[in-house]
Amino acid sequence: MKSFTLKVTEIIQETGDTATICFRQPALKKVVYKPGQYLTLKVYINGRRYFRPYSFSSCPGIDAELKITIKRVPYGLVSNHLLDTLKPGDLIEVLEPLGDFVFDTDAHSAFGHVMLWGAGSGITPLISIARYVLHQTSIDRVTLIYGNRSYDSVIFSKMISEMQECFGDRFSVWHFHTQVFVEDSDPFRVKGRIDPAMVLGMIADAGDLRDTLHFICGPAGLKDSVKQRLAAAGLPAGQVFSEDFEVEKDLSALRDIHTQMVNIAYEGVERKVEVVRGNSILEAGLDARIDLPYSCQTGHCTICKGKIRAGEVKMVGSQLKTESLLPDECLLCCAYPLTDDVDVMALN
Ligand SMILES: Cc1cc2nc3c(=O)[nH]c(=O)nc-3n(C[C@H](O)[C@H](O)[C@H](O)COP(=O)(O)OP(=O)(O)OC[C@H]3O[C@@H](n4cnc5c(N)ncnc54)[C@H](O)[C@@H]3O)c2cc1C
Ligand code: FES
Repeated sequence: MKSFTLKVTEIIQETGDTATICFRQPALKKVVYKPGQYLTLKVYINGRRYFRPYSFSSCPGIDAELKITIKRVPYGLVSNHLLDTLKPGDLIEVLEPLGDFVFDTDAHSAFGHVMLWGAGSGITPLISIARYVLHQTSIDRVTLIYGNRSYDSVIFSKMISEMQECFGDRFSVWHFHTQVFVEDSDPFRVKGRIDPAMVLGMIADAGDLRDTLHFICGPAGLKDSVKQRLAAAGLPAGQVFSEDFEVEKDLSALRDIHTQMVNIAYEGVERKVEVVRGNSILEAGLDARIDLPYSCQTGHCTICKGKIRAGEVKMVGSQLKTESLLPDECLLCCAYPLTDDVDVMALN
């Protein structure tokens, strides 16, 4: 896998807990990406290596610089470290752009309406897709449905307003605010959580739902409610895409998993580690200071692919991408030992 070293040029404070990190494109080996993809940052904290993916908030073909936008996660190790320590001039190593939560010009340009559903930091890939579609395609309509606590926590509020002015009827925005809500007469400013039924009701009035393409980036509740509504309305699943920022473990799926010793082989070294019930084999390996390769931890990027040399594992994850796996392979970030003789070898 290719990697790049990028130089931080500027840090823009977006809201109280969110900032955009701008990087200069390398002079020779340019970083080529699609709207919706992410960069994986390699970060060292107290001598230990961490990888964290961050979606591009910049737009390919429009922004000269590469940008990611990071929101502090309470007690989060890497997000707080980056926001507290990064400064212009710093160099940071990143993996090549990854992800298939993308607007694909060839496959998607025939649709008439792109709908973007997001909450909090989930706006990052969506703003890149919105700007790309508006600037680089002739698609008629883009609708952003964006949920936040209050107006103060709206990331990119100025850019969103400018886009509304610049693109007029082609770009509309619904703001949903759960906590602090300022009453006004704007029907697109709604109190409460994102209400897919309300939004889709208005869309159906205005046009044909069959002509829409949907990108969802936010908590599981938002993803599930939008998908359910779209499925109930008969929209094919192939017109709906979603991205998970957070690993949400389904504990009920781990009922038959127990704490086990697992053998992990990586770069010619064999180590037996304790995989405590509830931890994935990847988490246990990282805690044991084995520098295993990984990025998303949601089962999608496949960087953590491993070969099962003995025993049985159970794979649990909301975004599991298993199509490219052989019968004796697994994704270590979503793999839990089912038997007491598991032996895996990291493949990347
Ligand atoms: C494909 C992808 C793209 C992403 N893009 C962005 C982005 O553009 N901007 C951005 O700010 N983040 C993004 N993330 C999330 C980011 O990679 C980190 O997971 C996040 O910054 C937390 O890392 P941490 O080390 O601070 O927290 P950790 O120390 O890893 O976690 C601390 C605690 O917070 C919980 N947690 C982890 N992530 C989140 C989260 N996102 N929200 C709420 N709770 C969480 C964990 O379950 C844990 O309990 C993306 C994640 C993925 C998989
Ligand atoms: S780290 Fe991405 S699939 Fe496991």
